[in-house]
Amino acid sequence: MTRPPLFPALIILLTAHSLFAQPRHWPGDARGERLIDSLIRVMTIDEKVGQLVQYTAKGRDSLPGPSVSAEQGELIARGRIGGIFNLWGATATRAAQKIAVERSRLKIPLLFGLDVIHGYRTTFPIPLAEASSWDTAMVEQDARVAAAEAAASGVNWTFAPMVDIARDPRWGRIAEGSGEDPLLGSLMAAARVRGFQGGDPASYVSIAACAKHFAAYGGAEGGRDYNTVDMSERTLREVYLPPYKAAVDAGALTVMSSFNEIGGVPATGNHALLTGILRNEWGFRGFVVSDWMAITELIPHGVARDTLAAAALAFNAGTDADMESGAYRLFLPRLLREGKVTSPLLDEGVRRLLRVKFALGLFDDPYRHSSLELERSTILSPDNIARARDAGRRSIVLLKNAGGLLPLSKNIRSVAVIGPLADDRADPLGPWDALGRPEDVVTLLEGIRNAVPSSTRLLYARGCTIEGADRSGIALAVEAANDADAVVLAVGESSAMSGEAASRSTLDLPGIQNALVEAVASTGKPVVLVLMNGRPLSIAWAEAHIPAIMETWFLGVQTGNAIADLLFGDYNPSGKLPLTFLRTVGQVPFYYNHKNTGRPPVDTSKFTSRYSDLPSSPLFPFGYGLSYTTFDYGSVTLSPEVIDTAGTVAVDVRVKNTGTRRGEEVVQLYVRQDVGSVTRPVRELKGFQRIILAPGESRRVEFSLPARDLLMYDDSMRRVVEPGTFTVYVGTNSRDVTEGHFKVRER
Ligand code: NOJ
Repeated sequence: MTRPPLFPALIILLTAHSLFAQPRHWPGDARGERLIDSLIRVMTIDEKVGQLVQYTAKGRDSLPGPSVSAEQGELIARGRIGGIFNLWGATATRAAQKIAVERSRLKIPLLFGLDVIHGYRTTFPIPLAEASSWDTAMVEQDARVAAAEAAASGVNWTFAPMVDIARDPRWGRIAEGSGEDPLLGSLMAAARVRGFQGGDPASYVSIAACAKHFAAYGGAEGGRDYNTVDMSERTLREVYLPPYKAAVDAGALTVMSSFNEIGGVPATGNHALLTGILRNEWGFRGFVVSDWMAITELIPHGVARDTLAAAALAFNAGTDADMESGAYRLFLPRLLREGKVTSPLLDEGVRRLLRVKFALGLFDDPYRHSSLELERSTILSPDNIARARDAGRRSIVLLKNAGGLLPLSKNIRSVAVIGPLADDRADPLGPWDALGRPEDVVTLLEGIRNAVPSSTRLLYARGCTIEGADRSGIALAVEAANDADAVVLAVGESSAMSGEAASRSTLDLPGIQNALVEAVASTGKPVVLVLMNGRPLSIAWAEAHIPAIMETWFLGVQTGNAIADLLFGDYNPSGKLPLTFLRTVGQVPFYYNHKNTGRPPVDTSKFTSRYSDLPSSPLFPFGYGLSYTTFDYGSVTLSPEVIDTAGTVAVDVRVKNTGTRRGEEVVQLYVRQDVGSVTRPVRELKGFQRIILAPGESRRVEFSLPARDLLMYDDSMRRVVEPGTFTVYVGTNSRDVTEGHFKVRER
């Protein structure tokens, strides 16, 4: 390993450090802290501020790819930039790193950040889809693949996982998260952090994670991106904060502050959040980076008069690094001179930055995450592609299968493959596809072709476009349906309709796709509706008229093969919804863990909490998802039935596969606190287990439910377990459950 020439004062320390070339430990490696001390001692103010400055590379879409501009190169050489993002490729990142470690005075390596959200080049299912697998081991493994590919390309920092809870499907970024539940969201958050960072972030296949967007970005009013968030501290702490905490506990090296305000205080200038909760309560030791330009956005938010004031507010609140706005570079030195930012605080910010660089092993080998050879062997490797296919099929949720229409027989004579997404190569990549490329995608039509014998006739008709109004293709689609034994109809959204700045005011299928669905359904042929989208859509008509429906979200490069695996029974569906499917957008917000109210809805009773023109139930409940087999749940046994506030209840249930196929089931455990000092949700997910059962096989599933899982914020905002009675629900989703009861008494 060649070490770059370093500032002489550091050589001894670094030599000593590399003698102990073993995995570094995060947080607080003593050698790292000594190295950082010695650096901070010799850094000028401009060099310190430089570490806090992050800029995007130029020319994302140019060929052969992005690069740092001449001006940025100069700033790097002068130690005025600590990290570059949107730069990738071993060649480009090495060239930029070379400037930092050969031309800058202190030779501090750069961070290279990128939104590696669901894969680097091997695009995996979008996070909302992967959350539908309820399979944390798979999610961790997929994040590892993404990390290894990105790292080979020189990227050492991903702006992921996005762990924002979302209860409003109009919000486009719901696609990037894990849905509406704090426990599922927390487990997914931790799994992704472990996946990106591995056991050792300094490994050449690991990159730093960034839990975002802190905090409560998903609570935007009206589901409109960037909008105001206003919620009680109880909801913030019980529902929205747990996934960020889980990411921090899993060792996330960085956190991104969010664009939104919470109750009048924008997150990026929010001392209570960034310093109070994140650092003081949770003990986070990495650095906080602002979201893109979020520091100067404190001006339109109306809490800073100008960029100088914005920089002071953000930095003093605890935003260590400035993404793109330039406010710190321009004004932190002056704020320091004027005493509006203190030197110890600046040093602390720099320390946090350097800690992450140290944890990534960049002081040992700044080029660690960058290798042409690894780029060639890792990216899109057959192994990675196989994992993407498996992730794809595990992420699909079977919503309806009337009369056992699915799986289709492979001996079927003809299939009409219809719809704007049926042979679409670009949209299945989903939003935030990093380096995903349409040419890597297996379309649904191709996947079906791969699955059936060549004797099966495939009739393809697009029918219409995703958003257009042209109906002229519908007749051909109907003709194809009429000529076939079965129809696979792929409809949904474009990838650009979800993700950032992609909120929608309706959850309907866009364009004239409803007309296409109705026309194809009217042929009377057996139709399988395949949905591709970044949010749950309102599909009430389809649910009432189409026999089989699959929610496939956006599955990435192996879309077609993964869906075909389910269509023809090579894989038995096991996905479960990570959020509630509404009948119509008018039900928003509607989440399973809601409060009961004083007048719980009764559809036949006027003066109850309901809409007069809709059933009160969702279209599909949280946790819902069918299999090609059926599972039967026995009664729930609890023991003991009385515990104290330090005790544990064992929850037991027998689950039997009553169908004819081997199948995987996600057994779900929910709890309700019957009476509290404050109102409690009607049920809350407390655990789940994945089991595989052969036909006829039954198994006892046991959950251990410690009283600490019942912690809540009481009427004085103390975090306690309140004695009282609790109802336990176990089942195949949040609605279809069997229940039991236990009691918690004082200790
Ligand atoms: C803005 C987005 O909100 C954030 O999620 C992303 O990481 C940054 N841009 C950088 O691309």
